[in-house]
Amino acid sequence: MTTMKRRLTSTLVAASAAALLASSPATASSEAHGPEITRQQWSFGGFRGQYDQAQLQRGFQIYKEVCSACHGLSRVYFRNLVQPGGPGFPEESVKALAAEWPNQITDGPNDEGQMFERPARLADPIRGPYKNEKEARAAQNGAYPPDLSLIAKARGVERNPSWWTHPFLMLGDIFASYQEGGADYLTALMTGYVDPPADVKVNDGMYYNTAFPGHQLAMPSPLSADAVPYSDGTKTTVENYAKDVSAFLSWAADPTLDQRKRMGWQVMLYLFVTTVLLYLGKRRVWSKIKH
Ligand code: HEC
Repeated sequence: MTTMKRRLTSTLVAASAAALLASSPATASSEAHGPEITRQQWSFGGFRGQYDQAQLQRGFQIYKEVCSACHGLSRVYFRNLVQPGGPGFPEESVKALAAEWPNQITDGPNDEGQMFERPARLADPIRGPYKNEKEARAAQNGAYPPDLSLIAKARGVERNPSWWTHPFLMLGDIFASYQEGGADYLTALMTGYVDPPADVKVNDGMYYNTAFPGHQLAMPSPLSADAVPYSDGTKTTVENYAKDVSAFLSWAADPTLDQRKRMGWQVMLYLFVTTVLLYLGKRRVWSKIKH
């Protein structure tokens, strides 16, 4: 028993030492792999984190004002913007928003057998500007702006330490419950547009970005400071825009996070109470038996 305990303690010590090592600048990225991504603080990080409703609202505003010009969000429905655990906009304003959404819904066939376009309703998905991938590529110089519904789960961060520290870093992430790689990548992508180094030739129609694997992508820098006004006093910097839209896209990809984490803690509490009751019951049952 004690040796097991000791072994567990030494594993824990090793894991935390490795986590410390990783956070020191000594382990800088080796560019042979993907670029190193800075980890941000997220309200929804860790075991107990929950989404910040005001941030989700601002993030949706950025998606609407900026990203929706090129990207769809087709797995998110207008009604989701009303539901608890998300941006939680008032239903009336989302109804109005859906009715005015520029990309209408194709419905039909009508009595004449024709498909037709109609304004969106609460029950409709948030459509992007293009009907299909071909149309998108034709408009975007051959590049395809992906649907952003699941992008926060489809992307992550890669770390490039020496091979032997990898298991410890993984353990560190498990202990810290790190799941925000997608949001960290998105923020790094939005804020990663810089002038290319002198020895790099950027191809026509491509832009240099520190976070994108390969460093050249077909999306021009979408955010610029003060482009979208905020009504809650948050500073309108590119950094804030990037973090807000990343938080919003994290919610889009994982809309039940708040509920799931809350339920997790309730289950733990329930199991704890059950354990205590079972223990007391066991003592009582066995107390009458000599042993
Ligand atoms: C002018 C059109 C345009 C706008 C506006 C735009 N994007 Fe893009 N986006 C693109 C294109 C085109 C690509 C594909 C790039 C490529 O494949 O090289 C892309 C790719 C992406 C990717 C995928 C990157 C990857 O890892 O593969 C993400 C994420 C993304 N955009 C997020 C956003 C967000 C968030 C916004 C709003 C802040 C936004 N985009 C605004 C055109 C746009």
